[in-house]
Amino acid sequence: MITAIYPGSFDPVTNGHLDVVGRALKLFDRLIIAVAHNSEKQGLFAPQERVELIRRSIEDSSKIEVVAFDGLLVDFAANCGAVAIVRGLRAVTDFEYEFQMALMNKTLSPGLETVFLASREAYTYLSSRVIKEVARLGGDVSKMIPPAVVQALREKLGG
Ligand code: PNS
Repeated sequence: MITAIYPGSFDPVTNGHLDVVGRALKLFDRLIIAVAHNSEKQGLFAPQERVELIRRSIEDSSKIEVVAFDGLLVDFAANCGAVAIVRGLRAVTDFEYEFQMALMNKTLSPGLETVFLASREAYTYLSSRVIKEVARLGGDVSKMIPPAVVQALREKLGG
C-alpha cells in the first residue's frame, strides 16, 4: 500500500487541484489531501471549510482522505505513513518556491520524496488567489472551480 500526501492551502480548491488528485491516484494506492493551517496566512475559508469543500468536490473514493493539519508537513507525512509528497507545477514561476520546499523537506526527512506533476496546459493560469480576486470583482469563475466552491464563494463574498 503506497501512500502519498498532497498538501496545500486549498483556499479554495480549484479544478487544477482536482486534476492533480486524479492523476496522483493513478500513481499511488492511497492519497491524503492535507489542508495546511497557516497561522500567518489568513485564508478566506477556515481550514475545516476547505476540507469540506474538497470532500464535496471529489468523487467518493476509498483511496482518498481529506484532513487538516498543522505543524511540519514532514512530521504529518510520517504519521500518515506517506512515502511521497505530491505537488502540481504550473509554470517556471512556481519552480523556485517548490524547489526550496522540496529541498527543505528532503533535508528534514531524507526518505520522503517530492513528486511534481506538471499541470495540464488548461490549468497553468489557475490559482486559488486569482480565483478569489476574480470572484470578488464579480467575474465568472464557475468553469475553473467545482460547483460546491462556486456556491461557497457566493455565500462568502455575496452576489
Ligand atoms: O498551497 P500552498 O500554500 O502553496 O501550500 C504550501 C504548503 C502548505 C505545502 C507548505 O506551506 C507547507 O508544507 N506547510 C506546512 C508547514 C511546513 O512543513 N513548512 C515547511 C515547508 S518547507
